[in-house]
Amino acid sequence: MEQYVMKGGTPLCGEVEISGAKNAALAILAASIMTDEPVIIDNLPDVRDINVLIEAMETIGVVIERLDLHKVKINAGCITSVLVDYDYIKKIRASYYLLGALLGKYRKANVALPGGCDIGARPIDLHIKGFRALKAVVDIENGMVVSSAEKLEGTHIYMDKVSVGATINVMMAAALAEGKTIIENAAREPHVVDVANFLNSMGAGIRGAGTDVIRITGVEKLHGTEYSIIPDQIEAGTFMFAAAVTGGDVTVKNVIPKHLEAISAKLIEVGCRVHEYDDAVRVIAGEKLTHTQVTTLPYPGFPTDMQPQMTVVLGLAEGTSTVTESIFENRFKYVNELVRMGGQVKVEGNIAIINGVSGYTGAQISAPDLRAGAALVLAGLSAEGITTVDDIKYIQRGYEHFEEKLRGIGASIEKVDSEKEARKFILQVS
Ligand code: EPZ
Repeated sequence: MEQYVMKGGTPLCGEVEISGAKNAALAILAASIMTDEPVIIDNLPDVRDINVLIEAMETIGVVIERLDLHKVKINAGCITSVLVDYDYIKKIRASYYLLGALLGKYRKANVALPGGCDIGARPIDLHIKGFRALKAVVDIENGMVVSSAEKLEGTHIYMDKVSVGATINVMMAAALAEGKTIIENAAREPHVVDVANFLNSMGAGIRGAGTDVIRITGVEKLHGTEYSIIPDQIEAGTFMFAAAVTGGDVTVKNVIPKHLEAISAKLIEVGCRVHEYDDAVRVIAGEKLTHTQVTTLPYPGFPTDMQPQMTVVLGLAEGTSTVTESIFENRFKYVNELVRMGGQVKVEGNIAIINGVSGYTGAQISAPDLRAGAALVLAGLSAEGITTVDDIKYIQRGYEHFEEKLRGIGASIEKVDSEKEARKFILQVS
């Protein structure tokens, strides 16, 4: 089984190109089927989740032509089915965006109900509540979300919780509803704005994305478009934290600094220097890291997808820090692995209490989920000695060419597929 093996202790320095945002791309790929005209999408990240969703779309009859590694041409004019089965949903939860897209376009969609995942129960009750508010009939039958509508009617929806997925899914369906829809307490993430901009480039009438009130004027149909995905704020943040945790100096390129403000603010709080440019951000680690408190919140708050990376940084900061996870109920599973590397972290409910140590020590660890896996790699790159990380399939879901990009800024890391290859790497670096 593939692993990362690395030798820690080298300050990471240099420039890294950030790829397109996975969580924007997943929703935009789904939304692209809402027209029968060709759609070209560029700056797609070459990651497993994207490739699996493309496969799911092809199974329902969408014709997808790869123009290059990051660019596809989509033709959804001859979709043969509105059924997305469990096989795909269990591989990639975000297939549920096909619910809003198919319901909006065909007034019908049967998509398997996603189960929970590594970080929590992750229900989709708010998605379903939004579709019902648009006058769709939505039932759960045999593990499937079965939805249909004579017609979708614009309405006023108040989201009980701020939900990225529900905001995007309902916005997609409402784009082709009759009349006006208002979504209150909407998610404000950059990828929500990206999906709204994409739909507007297809002729939708969406205003207010990026604020907590989104107004949608339904249109008859949507037309083809060409669109480029925004850069991935979480990939960028992960590489910015790589500088902090290894005492390095990293510049992330092809980013939107505004999307990184909460991340930059925390780096400054712990003693790093951050320089912002038009489409790049440079992070220079301070002599030492100092403690602070962090609570994850919906955008523009500190992102939950950077929570594990934050704990890894604070694990090396002088003093006691706290990280409070307010979005998901089970997002500290990686802490046990960090403790095995010498971290002093204790989880009480949804709060991690972190006593900084002078350094981590290398160990054999496993990635429990996507973002925690990336965070543990950062810990391994700062640790003294050798670290191996198992279950890297999680990391490959959301980080394009992760080990190559890390090597590009000086990391001593390899992806290996056998004990023999791992031993060979360890001999080389010892
Ligand atoms: C998106 O998940 C992202 N995934 C997640 O990124 C990210 O952590 C999350 O937003 C928060 O930013 C994609 O975009 C594919 P939510 P999503 O709906 O939409 C509860 C990663 O690492 N909730 O904003 O599923 C939910 O349980 C992944 O790339 C309901 O109760 O997140 C959670 O507590 C991990 N009912 C909170 O709302 C619902 O119907 C926020 O979830 C929907 C959500």
